[in-house]
Order: sequence, then structure tokens, then C-alpha cells
Amino acid sequence: MENLSLSLKGKVSLVTGGSRGIGRAIAIKLAQAGSDVAINYLRHREAADETIKLIEQQGVKALAIRANVGEHENIHHMIDHLNNEFGRLDILISNAASGVLKPALELTERHWHWTMDINAGTLLPLTQHALPLMKNGGTIVAVSSLGSIRAIPNYAAVGASKAALESLIRHLAIELAPMGIKVNAVSAGTVETDALKYFPNREDIIEESKKRTPTGRLTTPEDVANVALYLCSPFSNQIQGQTIVIDGGYSIVA
Ligand SMILES: NC(=O)c1ccc[n+]([C@@H]2O[C@H](COP(=O)([O-])OP(=O)(O)OC[C@H]3O[C@@H](n4cnc5c(N)ncnc54)[C@H](OP(=O)(O)O)[C@@H]3O)[C@@H](O)[C@H]2O)c1
Repeated sequence: MENLSLSLKGKVSLVTGGSRGIGRAIAIKLAQAGSDVAINYLRHREAADETIKLIEQQGVKALAIRANVGEHENIHHMIDHLNNEFGRLDILISNAASGVLKPALELTERHWHWTMDINAGTLLPLTQHALPLMKNGGTIVAVSSLGSIRAIPNYAAVGASKAALESLIRHLAIELAPMGIKVNAVSAGTVETDALKYFPNREDIIEESKKRTPTGRLTTPEDVANVALYLCSPFSNQIQGQTIVIDGGYSIVA
């Protein structure tokens, strides 16, 4: 019988967009499991500082790195900074996202590229640059959303970017598996984070999601973090290239 453990003691994790919302919940969960954790953020230093404190309370090392994941040069600097501090990487969580919420026909070239660059364009350079630090194998988890497989009003650019992200996960999964690297995604239903404030119909989305979800409640950041931890643990070692949906059954209802 295998003696598997959820402990991540001695590991180093990087969570992009780890200062707030779902990323923060994942960062804290990894810290609780014993991993040192670097979080990335862009605009809100205070939120990053708060998360650093919460990580350190778990008795592990924490580091905040400011970088725009939509810019390749920024990604390179972020990984170099991580390398200087920790000298290795075991777990990469690609969570940061942004995007323009508008009907498809109102999207400009700038809106499209902004959304694609941050949500779909980040994982490849991030993985390429992080790979030399993953000398002992590792785990990559990207955070996606149901817009990748469903049509949601105002969500054309973000939905398309998440579909590209999930496809990239599958392609990376077959290339990286021989290197001992597990690559998967988690896809969440509606989660009440700051991101929802940007939806013009936030209240309707929340009410409708609660009503339609078989479990009768919204998905929480912790629900997503629990599955991310599972994907970072040896309990999921034969899961490769998958997108695991965490939505209380919302997406299976006809
Ligand atoms: N909320 C939902 O309902 C929901 C549902 C499904 C999937 N998701 C996915 O879950 C992930 C996290 O979403 P969330 O709701 O937790 O968002 P959030 O609360 O708005 O947090 C976003 C995080 O990403 C960072 N960030 C944004 N743009 C960045 C950039 N260009 N470079 C680096 N960091 C950047 C932010 O840092 P600063 O604050 O410093 O800018 C912050 O830490 C996203 O991939 C999202 O698509 C969310």
C-alpha cells in the first residue's frame, strides 16, 4: 500500500495573482500544507502584504513579486527573482487573469489582445522560463472558468482566452509528463471575489448562480483551493491534462 501525504514541506510554490481572491486562497492552502510560497500581484501592494502575513502565519517563507503577467519581460524578471530567493520551483499556479467584459461586437483590437495576452498568453512563457527551476519534476495548475465551454453574456473575450488556456494545458501535459511534471487546470463556477464587481449584472449573476446550482450555494475560493491542493499532491499523480470543474454541479444542469 502506498503511503501518500498531502504535505508539501520543502517545496516552493508560485501563485500568480496570489494576493487576492482565489489566488490568495490557493496560496494559503499551499502554505498550510508546508510549502514556501511566492505570490505575484500587479496593482494592489496592500493586499499582497496582507497575504504575505497570512502565509507566514503558517510557518513557511513568503515572497511577493510585482509583475504584469501579460508582459513576457515581466515574467522573466519574476522567475529570476524567485530563483534568486528560493533557487527552485515545484508548484506553479497560473491564476492571474484580467479581461474586457463587453458584447463580442463591441470588442476592439486592444480589448482582444489585452485579454488574450494576460489570460491565454501567460502560461507558455511562464512555463518555459520556470521549467529549469523544476529540476525534480513538479506541478502546474492553471485557473480557468466555465466561459471556456459555455456562452456567457459579455464574456466573449475572456471565454475564448480560457478555452485557449485549457487547450494549452492539454498540449503542455503531453510534453511535460516525461519530465515528471503534472499539468492540469481547475475551472470554477461563480465565486464572489472582487472580479465580479466588473460585471454590469453582478447581482443577477450571483442570484441566478445560487438558484441554478444543485448544491444551493456559490463556489468559494476555498472550494477551488482544496482541488488545487489535491492536484499538487501525489493523490492526483495519474491526472494529466485535465480541467476539473468546481461549480457545485451548475454546469451539468440542462
Ligand atoms: N471570480 C469568479 O467568479 C471566477 C470564476 C471562475 C474562474 N475565475 C478565475 O479565477 C482566477 C482569479 O480570479 P479572482 O476572481 O480571484 O480575481 P481577483 O479577486 O480580481 O484577483 C485577481 C488577482 O490577479 C492579479 N492580477 C490581475 N491582473 C494581473 C496581471 N496582469 N499581472 C499580474 N497579476 C494580475 C491581481 O493583483 P492586483 O490586485 O495587484 O492587480 C489579483 O491578485 C482568474 O483566472 C479568474 O478567471 C474566477
